[in-house]
Amino acid sequence: MSFSIEQVRADFPILSREVNGQPLAYLDSAASAQKPQIVIDAELEFYRNGYAAVHRGIHTLSAEATTLMENVRSQAAQFINAAKPEEIVFVRGTTEGINLVANSWGNANVQAGDNIIISAMEHHANIVPWQMLCERTGAELRVIPLNQDGTLQLDVFPTLIDDRTKLLAIAHVSNVLGTENPVKEMIATAHQAGVKVLVDGAQAVMHHATDVAALDCDFYLFSGHKIYGPTGIGVLYVKEAILQDMPPWEGGGSMIATVSLTAGTTYAAAPWRFEAGTPNTAGIIGLGAALSYVEGLGMDAIGEYERNLMRYAQHALQAVPDLTIYGPAERRGVLAFNLGKHHAYDVGSFLDNYGIAVRTGHHCAMPLMAFYSVPAMCRASFAMYNTEQEVDRLVAGLQRIHSLLG
Ligand SMILES: Cc1ncc(COP(=O)(O)O)c(C=O)c1O
Repeated sequence: MSFSIEQVRADFPILSREVNGQPLAYLDSAASAQKPQIVIDAELEFYRNGYAAVHRGIHTLSAEATTLMENVRSQAAQFINAAKPEEIVFVRGTTEGINLVANSWGNANVQAGDNIIISAMEHHANIVPWQMLCERTGAELRVIPLNQDGTLQLDVFPTLIDDRTKLLAIAHVSNVLGTENPVKEMIATAHQAGVKVLVDGAQAVMHHATDVAALDCDFYLFSGHKIYGPTGIGVLYVKEAILQDMPPWEGGGSMIATVSLTAGTTYAAAPWRFEAGTPNTAGIIGLGAALSYVEGLGMDAIGEYERNLMRYAQHALQAVPDLTIYGPAERRGVLAFNLGKHHAYDVGSFLDNYGIAVRTGHHCAMPLMAFYSVPAMCRASFAMYNTEQEVDRLVAGLQRIHSLLG
């Protein structure tokens, strides 16, 4: 199928609105992506015509809703090339999924004296749950340092591994720098030492095809809202053999086999053992629509369009005086920068006045801000619906701010 930017933009109703009297240039998809009509319709249709609680009743609506939900589990498994739908756990998002792994797998497998390796470019969602696990257990958190260009010091990584290393938890793509880490090679290195690997795919799955079988990772995560799906739904993939052995973390309805006040509780099989309570069924159905949408366009076509747009942006931004761009030349999706000594909030507010939405702040990556000795950065993210004209407007906006503020 051919990729038509005009058609893609027409599929996203919000892109035709104005902000501050200007056409919206939405360059904040890495924080949360906009939704195509097909996703909005899928949720609406479920609430209008198909709504019921899943897994609970024998009535028709409940059975239909359960089928819809379980179909999306199969779809998500195929999307990342998992071996089976049962390797997919529905979670609220990447954050909840990492917390699930830290609490369930982590509590069962990590002890005092063990260590966990992360990197200095992680999102707080892939730092704090491991810090908390280390506090609970007495384990140690080790950190792969960065090069100045925002790549990992890959020669240091193997030296951090020893016989007490239990896990490597690493971003597939950095949400600030756009660095695509060589996770496949890192997983192979970790596995040679018997170390399990969790890959945070929150900033990766929307940019290219994902293949957990080829990566051979043990855990993989992504959030629906960053891949044009609804908020409040995400996917945790866990290799079947590991998931089978993981204890439940949240207790409640839907995750049990039997409950007795005298004989205790037995648990449902995985993955349902990890899905306590009434799930976000509408969100799951919306996620299914989003995955169908991007697959219909083709992940390769999306990746190529975005790569060209990023090259265009990197070239065009050279025309802005005093612009510092952070991260490697080869990057995915995001471009973080500061303009002169101006605070990112000021620059972001000016851009907003011009109808251009960028993210400003620490990007949930305070250690990375510390590494570059800045309190904040601006970040423009380029999704499949962004255009060269929007890049030109960003460049013109930044030039104008520079001439106004000096
Ligand atoms: C790399 C990365 N990991 C984790 C997260 C957390 O995702 P969520 O807030 O959807 O749970 C984000 C969100 O910005 C992210 O960019």
